[in-house]
Amino acid sequence: MISRDTITKIMDTVRIEEVIGDFVTLKKRGVNMLGNCPFHNEKTPSFTVSPAKGIYKCFGCGVAGDSVRFMMELEHKSYPEALRYLADKYKIEIEETEAPTEKQVEEKNERDSLFIVAAFAQRFYSEQLLETEEGQSVGLTYFKERGFTKETIERFQLGYSPEKGDAFVKAATAEGYQLDYMQKAGLASDKYDRPYDFFRGRVMFTIHNFLGKVVGFGGRTLLSDKKVPKYVNTPETDIYNKSKILYGLYQAKNAIRKEDECILVEGYTDVISLSQAGVENVVASSGTSLTVEQVRLIKRLTPNITITYDGDTAGIKAAIRGIDLILEEDMNVRVVLLPAEDDPDSYVKREGADGFLKYRNEHIQDFILFKAGYLQDESKKDPVKRAEAIKDIVDSIALIPDAIKRSVYVKECAQLMDIQEQILVSEVNKIRHNKYSKQAGAPPRAEDRQVNEEVPELAQQQEALTRLSPLARQERDVMRLLLEYANYDYQDEWKVVHAILMELDADETPMSDPVSEKIINIYRNAIQETSLIPETHELSGNQDEEVSRFVIEVLQTPYELSPNWGKMHDIAITDKQFMYKKDIQSSLYRLKLERLKVLIDENRVAMKKAQDEGDEQALMEQIQIFQHYLDLKKMLAAALGSVILP
Ligand code: CTP
Ligand code: MN
Repeated sequence: MISRDTITKIMDTVRIEEVIGDFVTLKKRGVNMLGNCPFHNEKTPSFTVSPAKGIYKCFGCGVAGDSVRFMMELEHKSYPEALRYLADKYKIEIEETEAPTEKQVEEKNERDSLFIVAAFAQRFYSEQLLETEEGQSVGLTYFKERGFTKETIERFQLGYSPEKGDAFVKAATAEGYQLDYMQKAGLASDKYDRPYDFFRGRVMFTIHNFLGKVVGFGGRTLLSDKKVPKYVNTPETDIYNKSKILYGLYQAKNAIRKEDECILVEGYTDVISLSQAGVENVVASSGTSLTVEQVRLIKRLTPNITITYDGDTAGIKAAIRGIDLILEEDMNVRVVLLPAEDDPDSYVKREGADGFLKYRNEHIQDFILFKAGYLQDESKKDPVKRAEAIKDIVDSIALIPDAIKRSVYVKECAQLMDIQEQILVSEVNKIRHNKYSKQAGAPPRAEDRQVNEEVPELAQQQEALTRLSPLARQERDVMRLLLEYANYDYQDEWKVVHAILMELDADETPMSDPVSEKIINIYRNAIQETSLIPETHELSGNQDEEVSRFVIEVLQTPYELSPNWGKMHDIAITDKQFMYKKDIQSSLYRLKLERLKVLIDENRVAMKKAQDEGDEQALMEQIQIFQHYLDLKKMLAAALGSVILP
């Protein structure tokens, strides 16, 4: 058992913002910090951390507690496990009061022993690289040729394993490490009659876990012999579980948070070269396709993943595989395909970080649209392939939890693939329906609790949403943005509400939905009479039940348009904080377009009528109006294009 004293010491030392900060991106809000709650799915942060009080509370789902509680809940640890985790993080020695069970000691000792021998191996390989003749002339020369600096070699703990068959085993044995642990850590091979080094004559890439502990290695041969495998990696061990590790994540995590984006590449050297060039928010899945666990590691830091692969066909195929997983986690996935002959490493080396970022900004594509475009090209002339392509894209879209995102994709893919929107909608709905009715019997996984509970409701609401006309749907989106951001800054002295009201007034068209119109009038009157902007809670608690129901529904809908949505379509935005402005602009343009479509329909009817009645003059008038509408439509489309595709 952990002693009282140790517990006190742990509680005195831990800083809740650091403990939680390892998993949740927190931003300062006055004396508190705010982030997206890790215990339920949310798009607008309501998870509050008080560094002064050492506690957290989520105003969305109600969870609350201190650092220990947080680790228990998040990682499903027991109380002592959570304490041990914190002690480890803050390097506090644990004093035991009573002897733990023998098995506990054994297991803990064994894992610890593996960590310890892995850390020794790292030091050994580094020393070999930097301080032995063989290491310097072979390994170091190679790294230098690849342009890796001394700092990079240290930062990524690069090393060299000597040719001689048992150099590591000998050195480790001399230091008192047991062969058994070397084998269990994947460092020594027992294939031969005597112990042998697992890595021989290779340059070494050290693999760390999220907390920076050495868990494994990748060794690259320097021979160009095709029969020799280019990379040899640590096999699965008790401390190295490939599917839960991302190469470079430990070095990249702060940058990922800061940039609010994770760049995913294929190889060790891609990570290192980009990072050295200053693009530090980069990790590799190391040759295997991405796993759910890896995606969740990234999700703790950012919802935005940019897959950056070689531009050859293999690269494209690799990009398309495995990504459905990311979509399912409701992350925003974009793709950058490099020129066919390049990988990120070669590109950044030749063109520098600026060149790389420039290329990236020019070639970044939303993943689904990229996939739709690619499939469309592939299957243009072959109807069978085309049907497969459509099925393929529908499968991907159906995975996205956010209904509005889905409907946006359906719309854009329908256009891209030249197919009726309604067909895609019904296919997507079919898949989702099947999927959720199948899952209904299974108990929800803890981390999906929220999502699964929402499914029936989500399906219902989504259906309701598809029953709305496009115009009504777009009105709702504007309402959502208004309710969510009314009080946010827009420009100079202007708040969001001013900007939205002005645009709506300019159209001289009331909302087709009377409740929305009512709410707009509440804002309008409040601003005119008191120049105070009503708070959202005043509206959600409004005496008019229709109003309050509408507001709560719009704000609570699980499929609310994420504030990140703009980012998916958006490329060159640097001022991430103000992303909602883009959302608002594009949503207003979309509304105007929908309104215009209604007018165009009316115009068409009027034209037909004039024609049927043989009324020349009326017909001419209507044709002029039609011309005017077409011009407007072009202007709006251009304006919309410049918002979402700057
Ligand atoms: N890989 C592997 N085993 C192999 C080949 C590749 O594990 N036999 C993994 C490695 O993690 C490697 C990644 O797949 O980093 C990408 O492979 P590749 O592009 O061939 O290697 P690079 O990292 O580009 O290495 P280099 O630049 O030295 O060729
Ligand atoms: Mn390479």
